[in-house]
Amino acid sequence: MILLLIILNSLQGSHAGLSDVSWSFDGHRIVCEIAWQNLTPAVKNSVRALLSGDSAYDRFSESCIWADVIRRESQYERFVTAHYVNLPHGVEGIDLTRDCADNLCVVKAITEQTSILENRASTETARLEALKFIGHFVGDLHQPLHVGYAEDRGGNSTDVTIWGEERNLHQVWDRSLIEYKMLSWEAYAAQLLGGISAVDRTLWASKNVEDWANESFQITENYIYDVGPDAEIGDDYYLTNLHTLEEQLKKAGIRLAALLNDALR
Ligand code: ADE
Ligand code: ZN
Ligand code: ZN
Repeated sequence: MILLLIILNSLQGSHAGLSDVSWSFDGHRIVCEIAWQNLTPAVKNSVRALLSGDSAYDRFSESCIWADVIRRESQYERFVTAHYVNLPHGVEGIDLTRDCADNLCVVKAITEQTSILENRASTETARLEALKFIGHFVGDLHQPLHVGYAEDRGGNSTDVTIWGEERNLHQVWDRSLIEYKMLSWEAYAAQLLGGISAVDRTLWASKNVEDWANESFQITENYIYDVGPDAEIGDDYYLTNLHTLEEQLKKAGIRLAALLNDALR
């Protein structure tokens, strides 16, 4: 019983503490389920083979939360900053020498881990970790506030009230907007999958990792902070941004699939 309480407690603790660094667990599961459904049969087999060496995760969509689970472990300290990148106000887009020089940002992390994954000479352990990192970081890069401003840590220190509850803007985009749908992550993924057209696929997959970051940043610049003077948001904010939120989840899934189909082909 005591053990159970300790486990429950630590789960809750990490849940709350992690809210600044990622889509919610369900956000990541949705992105990775969309990706999974768009992998070629051969690449699905490669992913299954890599995951067979992992005792914690059977399904790809579940493995995408791993990068948050290990976030406090000292052996992964390099990756603490790999979930996001911050840019100055008003710039056109990301500049890796300006924005990504001091630490491993999300864009560099995706590029680095992709090289490890596609290199058949990497160890199986390194390739498995690369798979899990990529599944997570491609998701994070599509949460607009993961390409944000340093001054408020991507919205983490911008307080708002959403449907009467006190949150920060980052949490709103990590989880509140997704939760408001009241669907299981499986059902939400299925619904989003049904709304992806052939044109979407072609347009989205034709861009590179820096383009993905720039799209997120444009959303951050133009829409996210439009919360009114009292920062009390609700249905209006939700309805204004729902299309953007869902398009980001779909884009992340399709682009992740394209990346993996290429790296593991
Ligand atoms: N910490 C600092 N900046 C951040 C951001 N943009 N997203 C998540 N965590 C952060
Ligand atoms: Zn993350
Ligand atoms: Zn986050």
